[in-house]
Amino acid sequence: MRPTGSDSTPVSADPGILAGLAELLGPGRLLSGSAAEPFLVDHRQLYHGRCLAVVQPRAAEEVARLLGFCNEHRLGVVPQGGNTGYCGGATPDESGTQIVVSLARLNRIRQVDPLNYSLIAEAGCILADVQRAADQAERFFPLSLGSEGSCQIGGNLSTNAGGVNVLRYGMMRELVLGLEVALADGRLLTSLASLRKDNTGYDVKSLFLGAEGTLGIITAASLKLFPRIRSSATAFAAIAEPRAAVQLLALLREASGDRISSFELVPRIAIELTTRHIPGVRDPLDAPHPWYVLCELTSSRAADPLDPMLTECLGGALQDGLVLDAALARSERERATFWKLRETIPEAQRLDGASLKHDISVPIVAIPEFIERAGAWVRDNVPDGRLVAYGHLGDGNLHFNLNQAPGAARASFLARSETVKRAIHDLVRDFAGSISAEHGIGRLKVGELERYTQPAELDLMRALKRTLDPNGILNPGKVLRPDADSIRERPTE
Ligand code: FAD
Ligand code: MLT
Ligand code: ZN
Repeated sequence: MRPTGSDSTPVSADPGILAGLAELLGPGRLLSGSAAEPFLVDHRQLYHGRCLAVVQPRAAEEVARLLGFCNEHRLGVVPQGGNTGYCGGATPDESGTQIVVSLARLNRIRQVDPLNYSLIAEAGCILADVQRAADQAERFFPLSLGSEGSCQIGGNLSTNAGGVNVLRYGMMRELVLGLEVALADGRLLTSLASLRKDNTGYDVKSLFLGAEGTLGIITAASLKLFPRIRSSATAFAAIAEPRAAVQLLALLREASGDRISSFELVPRIAIELTTRHIPGVRDPLDAPHPWYVLCELTSSRAADPLDPMLTECLGGALQDGLVLDAALARSERERATFWKLRETIPEAQRLDGASLKHDISVPIVAIPEFIERAGAWVRDNVPDGRLVAYGHLGDGNLHFNLNQAPGAARASFLARSETVKRAIHDLVRDFAGSISAEHGIGRLKVGELERYTQPAELDLMRALKRTLDPNGILNPGKVLRPDADSIRERPTE
């Protein structure tokens, strides 16, 4: 009997397995010992796993053959992209029995088709490289995240990543035309025809989007492109409270003919943290204010008068008292400094000390009330924490984070994490919101998914898992609890 991937007892590797893997992939594609170390810890350093080996396939067919082999030998398989995920989804467990599949070498852009407004990229392509390839073809790929220099398309698809352009272009799910996926039984599902319309039965590809590697390994994707952005207007505006941001968003959508691509909420504390910890970040406004929004209008027409449009709208809002002050980016450089402030909030938070993160969403109009109620709870119950609530207001998505207050003890602050999480997530449920808006479930939120998801939906998820991965080899213990999907015993030969 082979130990299961969810068993925490380390096992010694069956030499036949390692030899089989080496034969399957060829020389130099199996890492172990210190070479495997970087693949065993997640970005937030929440989990430190072990593994039998890290493998680095170079072709989709190799990934499929690898899964066939692992299925036959009942080996747990953990796909890993850029390893920037926040929920420990790409980290193996502590058993030392799992295989980490790094997709980094599957990094070819197979096709750019400007007329079809599409591009086919392999899973290991870095997001920034895909953006660049689109740009070189006079097109635009809109997914944009703070981690875009290292996260991979396969990881973006598997977490259904969001980021700062969702308001206009949707999440990763909405940017996909087709997928190529290696299945647990060793078959390769190829659906890369780049069709805009296809109503032939169930939308099978959608199952793998946001599945975090638990239903198959994505090897390539056909992605939607858009006209290249040729003009933009960016402003950093101060407001008294989040309610003003919701009103301003509605005004701007109307006044700009829906040309808003980003609308981000930034609290005062984020300015303090980024200016303190990140070189080159400065407060864009002269005086401090309680809240800010970073908003951007974009257009594919070079002559679109976006600056006057934004100036006029913000001018009216200033007169009405909705906006307290505002700075409009006068150059590409200034625009980049506004964005640097926003994009480095997570890094500044990390440098400032321990943090508790909650990636939540509620209806956009409910954001102000949510901040009021959850903020009051934090003030009353977490004396050693400071609220750092920011994020994608235009999508109703807040990073409702807490940072260790100056002088507070790290351990006792972190010891509050369960209590804080329960209070925040219960409130999210009261608002009919989501406890994971864009970061996924991974290993971190398995219990939270069970707690807040209706039983019928969970049953369907488990049924899908059993159908696509009957032996439970794919990313065991991620998204769903291992006892619902644990690796089945190898049939006795
Ligand atoms: P990984 O971390 O390697 O993996 C994530 C999950 O996908 C794991 O479960 C893994 O097993 C699975 N996986 C990876 N590749 C494949 C594949 N080919 N097939 C099947 N499964 C696979 N996220 C947002 O949504 N919005 C943001 O604004 C955002 N900002 C961020 C800013 C910073 C500074 C950082 C560090 C992270 C941020 N993230 C954000 C989180 C993270 O970057 C995204 O979740 C990203 O999509 C993960 O991609 P990755 O390649 O690093 O995936
Ligand atoms: C962001 O929007 O900055 C990220 O999704 C949140 C984070 O990195 O904590
Ligand atoms: Zn985010």
